[in-house]
Amino acid sequence: MEQQKKKILCVGLVCLDIISVVDKYPEEDTDRRCLSQRWQRGGNASNSCTVLSLLGASCAFMGSLSAGPVADFILEDFHKFNIDVSLVCEHTQCVLPASVVISNISTGSRTILHMNRNLPDVTAQDFSRVDLRQFKWIHWEGRNAEEQVKMIQQVVEFNSSLPQQQRITISVEIEKTREKLYQLFPHGDVVRDDVFVSKDVARHFGFQSAEAALRGLYSRVKQGAVLICAWAEDGADALGPDGLVVHSDAFPPEALVDTLGAGDTFNAAVIYALSNGGRLQDALTFGCRVAGRKCGFHGYDDIGKYFTND
Ligand code: ADP
Ligand code: FRU
Repeated sequence: MEQQKKKILCVGLVCLDIISVVDKYPEEDTDRRCLSQRWQRGGNASNSCTVLSLLGASCAFMGSLSAGPVADFILEDFHKFNIDVSLVCEHTQCVLPASVVISNISTGSRTILHMNRNLPDVTAQDFSRVDLRQFKWIHWEGRNAEEQVKMIQQVVEFNSSLPQQQRITISVEIEKTREKLYQLFPHGDVVRDDVFVSKDVARHFGFQSAEAALRGLYSRVKQGAVLICAWAEDGADALGPDGLVVHSDAFPPEALVDTLGAGDTFNAAVIYALSNGGRLQDALTFGCRVAGRKCGFHGYDDIGKYFTND
């Protein structure tokens, strides 16, 4: 299959987001009405698939799903966005993870309370059944890192028999400040260390900016890799093997309405641009442009309106 026509696969979480939109953050132990409520398919890898698809990329999601009406809602939504779910692993006896999200339109903030009761992540054994020939890029949302390292090794093995231009690009997202996830650093061609979520930890390690974090963490990635760090309203920075830090400012929307999934949107837009042969600087700028625009409306649907065939 021609490389350009191949799909992008995102491996990670899908969950249910139960979103209450408010214009003022509630006080504890009060009883107020909110402006609106909605169910939305969530999870980093799942959200990134939504954005990739809206941008015009063929993509697939691999993750675990339960059975029953909530899982049906999720599957229907994947179909609506034309996302290939043939690699989804069903666990009929498990409960789908869910987040209760308070989305404050006055600040754009999103407060997430997440729960995963018993749904296991996909394993290296599940992954060994994947026909890798259909993909040009595989992105892992860092979760069960030990298994994910084994999955990545399968791709490295697959790549080793192929010429450079037919290889699958590997990217990983290290978002949470969990020690176990840091073993993923040396395994990506493109690594996104989401220091915004762990600003406190970045500061704890002495990093006061995205650039400082990149320089401090770059020794952990493999030779030739690109390390990318988004920093909310300060935009994003990236560092590649040439040692030059590239930066994009953020593109704040007219009104900051909904930052839920801004990072997932950023990742998807960067992957989209790089997978189409874009330069790092352009991919970073595109990521910030799409993520910034997304912060100006609820959900993801309007991305298609602004950015398809960009
Ligand atoms: P998340 O917390 O969802 O992981 P980040 O804070 O890492 O998201 O932001 C990802 C990208 O989204 C940023 O690089 C930026 O381009 C955009 N973004 C996030 N918050 C804002 C904001 N307040 N204003 C403008 N752009 C933003
Ligand atoms: C946004 C998100 C939500 C989900 C939560 C899980 O980045 O993926 O959709 O509820 O994070 O941590």
